[in-house]
Amino acid sequence: MEITVTINGVQHTDEVEPRTLLVQYIREQVALTGTNIGCDTSSCGACTVHLDGESVKSCTVLAVQADGGDILTIEGLADGDTLHPMQQAFMENHGLQCGFCTPGMVMAATSLLNEIPHPTEDEVRIGLEGNLCRCTGYHNIVKAVLAAAEGAPA
Ligand code: FES
Ligand code: FES
Repeated sequence: MEITVTINGVQHTDEVEPRTLLVQYIREQVALTGTNIGCDTSSCGACTVHLDGESVKSCTVLAVQADGGDILTIEGLADGDTLHPMQQAFMENHGLQCGFCTPGMVMAATSLLNEIPHPTEDEVRIGLEGNLCRCTGYHNIVKAVLAAAEGAPA
């Protein structure tokens, strides 16, 4: 089946199988490998991207379901060499260890701040509960999100 999607502002038209997951399409056909696969069973959040402005676990969406959609992946977040404020906050607050969960965490966190620009610590923890960090660096991840929120417009 043919699909057309916009990923990080670039339009792609490709043939996919009906069973192809969005995360497989993004990684294997579009070759954007920043979006990770941690479980394939919708548990870990490593595959989180934005689809039409909403945070989704891309292993839970078929590529054909994203046809016509506007997708943002971790590769599209920075502005050239300038990190997105959330990426900067993760860096400054040591919000990562091995980094495997980080793209999904950052995408989920930016989506959270779009919905709640100034969350409480509890709201950050609840907002990110679908994203697992195997290095268990949650404290600094939450700190990073709160720091990014401080810089967010009121
Ligand atoms: S790979 Fe999608 S939730 Fe784990
Ligand atoms: S930093 Fe290693 S899994 Fe989160």
